[in-house]
Amino acid sequence: MSTVFVTGGAGYIGTHTCLELLQAGHKVFVYDNLSNSSRLGLERVERLAKGSIEFIEGDVRDGSTLEHALRHSQCESVIHFAGLKAVGESVKNPLIYYDNNVVGTYTLLNAMQATGVKKLVFSSSATVYGEPQSLPIEEAHPLSATNPYGRTKLIAEDMLRDHFHAYPDWNITILRYFNPVGAHESGLIGEDPKGTPSNLMPFIAQVAVGMREKLNIWGNDYPTPDGTGVRDYIHVVDLATGHLRAIEKIMPPQCIELNLGTGRGYSVLEVLRAFEEASGKTIAHEFFPRRSGDVAACFAGTKHAESILQWRAERNLKTMCADHWRWQHLNPAGYASNNDFAIKNAT
Ligand code: NAD
Ligand code: UFG
Repeated sequence: MSTVFVTGGAGYIGTHTCLELLQAGHKVFVYDNLSNSSRLGLERVERLAKGSIEFIEGDVRDGSTLEHALRHSQCESVIHFAGLKAVGESVKNPLIYYDNNVVGTYTLLNAMQATGVKKLVFSSSATVYGEPQSLPIEEAHPLSATNPYGRTKLIAEDMLRDHFHAYPDWNITILRYFNPVGAHESGLIGEDPKGTPSNLMPFIAQVAVGMREKLNIWGNDYPTPDGTGVRDYIHVVDLATGHLRAIEKIMPPQCIELNLGTGRGYSVLEVLRAFEEASGKTIAHEFFPRRSGDVAACFAGTKHAESILQWRAERNLKTMCADHWRWQHLNPAGYASNNDFAIKNAT
């Protein structure tokens, strides 16, 4: 049992991770500015875990509030989820990405340094591998960025590696997520995208629930078995248990990069069919030209995470779709939906 300070803990991956941490007996502090989340997610986590979370509303770029919150928490470790994550938005407005993701991480490192907290788990992304040169993608694959969002993750990773070089008694785990999907099996917490989702599974789920007319499939002429893009989808609860293992298993001193994926890729059409099966709905779709910046196929090498974290993703595509669907139809408008209805009907 330890105390974990979770930045961005009110968001999609954060809520699922807070639940795993509480269920494993850890004490949890969440620090979030609620720019892409609401308090309801954390309230539902508390309900599921039958435990409590101390919540501090704050921005990771606000160094003095952050330092005060870190001191108050008396935490041993930090999981840093807070940041922005939409590739398209980062192209249109790069500076807010540099500010939230790079300045945010820099401010957090300074606050940790000032308060003597030396253990950090950082949310990175498979986007730091750029165009895959070999598959599966192992952690030693060359790094590059193809958009401002990816560049902010790469800069933050480099900053962490440089910091560790200067302070080798730190313990830094950089987790590179592949494509997180799904929701907790209760249907009470899940992804709550604002506006039109750009990611595949939230979009499919909104078509299934009747919020959108059809899915646009970006490209059916890729060199993949059915011509549509292939990705490594990972259930968000598996991702959350990966963070729990990083907190519990990684011992100092080290700075390590680990992929969190399943090691298996599925095409857009395979995901669409699996979602149709899980929801009992037909997903109308139409093919369009490739989306700029997309790669044909991307999936993780998983052996390092398996051996170092003694962890592997357990939930298959069928479970990912079933759980995502349960969340979507109990909460058609995300956390803004009827709270009593979702709670009453949750399993
Ligand atoms: P999310 O938007 O649901 O959660 C991020 C949380 O951080 C939100 O609660 C938001 O309010 C908060 N936040 C944002 N900026 C903040 C700031 N300046 N100060 C304090 N809080 C702030 O996103 P998520 O999907 O849970 O992603 C979590 C992390 O994982 C992000 O860093 C993201 O880049 C990374 N990641 C996500 C994916 C994905 O597909 N979801 C893939 C790879 C990496
Ligand atoms: N797709 C469609 N139609 C849609 C949405 C997606 O056909 O409406 C296709 C894409 O072309 C791609 C696949 O579905 O082939 C997956 O697309 P996502 O947008 O769900 O995911 P990406 O792999 O493009 O991007 C995700 C995250 C990024 C991260 C990247 C690498 O959104 O933040 O994985 O890890 F950088």
